[in-house]
Amino acid sequence: MPARILTLCGSLRARSSNRSILRAYAQLAASRMTFEHYERMGTLPHFNPDLDCEGGALPAEVLELRRAVSTAEALLISTPEYMHGLPGAFKNVLDWLVSDPGFVGKRIVILHAARGSTWALDSLREVLRTMSAEVIEAASVSLPLGSNQLDEDAMLARDDLRALLRQSVETLASTLAKAPNQTLPPATAADEALAVLDRFTAAFNHQDVAGMDATLHFPHLFPGSPPVIWQHAGSAPADFFPKLVASGWAFSRYTKREVILVSPERVHLLVEYDRCRADGSVLSQQSALWIVTRIDGRWGIQVRSNR
Ligand SMILES: Cc1cc2nc3c(=O)[nH]c(=O)nc-3n(C[C@H](O)[C@H](O)[C@H](O)COP(=O)(O)O)c2cc1C
Repeated sequence: MPARILTLCGSLRARSSNRSILRAYAQLAASRMTFEHYERMGTLPHFNPDLDCEGGALPAEVLELRRAVSTAEALLISTPEYMHGLPGAFKNVLDWLVSDPGFVGKRIVILHAARGSTWALDSLREVLRTMSAEVIEAASVSLPLGSNQLDEDAMLARDDLRALLRQSVETLASTLAKAPNQTLPPATAADEALAVLDRFTAAFNHQDVAGMDATLHFPHLFPGSPPVIWQHAGSAPADFFPKLVASGWAFSRYTKREVILVSPERVHLLVEYDRCRADGSVLSQQSALWIVTRIDGRWGIQVRSNR
């Protein structure tokens, strides 16, 4: 399955050169990756911590943004610099993603029109580092556009720009072919467990059974009466996702991931998540105890005990 990439443009300008960079990249990579271009930055409400907390009502625009981010394997960002900083509208997008578990560990490529000034880029890197994202530096590229008037076709007509973008596409493709933890070694057992949860949900939201199995340990236990045990990969019922989709489900998102017990080989987490419709409305709320274990050096979810 081609990798799903979400592009984020930091400019609202209709003829934005940063948007053209992202569109040119998508054209070049079209045979390897699929692209969703996030174009709703202008209608995103201003960030308000009162809404972004337990019990707060997240605006539909924010849920839509988070859905787009959590279902993407990587983000592609291109942003202008305004007065030596990030554009306010774009910083607002990042602020809404700070508490989004789907953003943690997200792999990000930064594209940029070289203008000699790097205040905004330096700030962007600092913000992304603080948000625990992973910038793929080897794929991040500065383009000597010369003017901010070029559209995507004009960019692709230039050999130098096309070569830089193509090299970035190749690097991104080979990075995405590796498991995320090969490029981002989490520091602690709890970080490892949370990274597994991110990968699990990304695969789940793609309805990617093999990808989901790759985040589990077997035998995989669902306690109950009687308990259900998946002895090996491929044990998920064939109608699992069709049934879920028929119920109106489009994606799931965590609302809580509380680490309650940690040892070097085992992490217990209180996990709450919403099953959501495509418009972001909640279909059902789930709470569970998940146990993530380390076996032969690999972390995987071993027990999922729902309330
Ligand atoms: C309000 C404003 C402030 C700007 N400040 C800077 C700046 O501090 N440094 C810089 O290199 N360019 C600055 N620029 C130039 C923009 O980065 C440049 O026009 C860029 O191409 C805009 O991106 P876009 O084509 O995607 O809209 C500024 C432009 C505007 C409108």
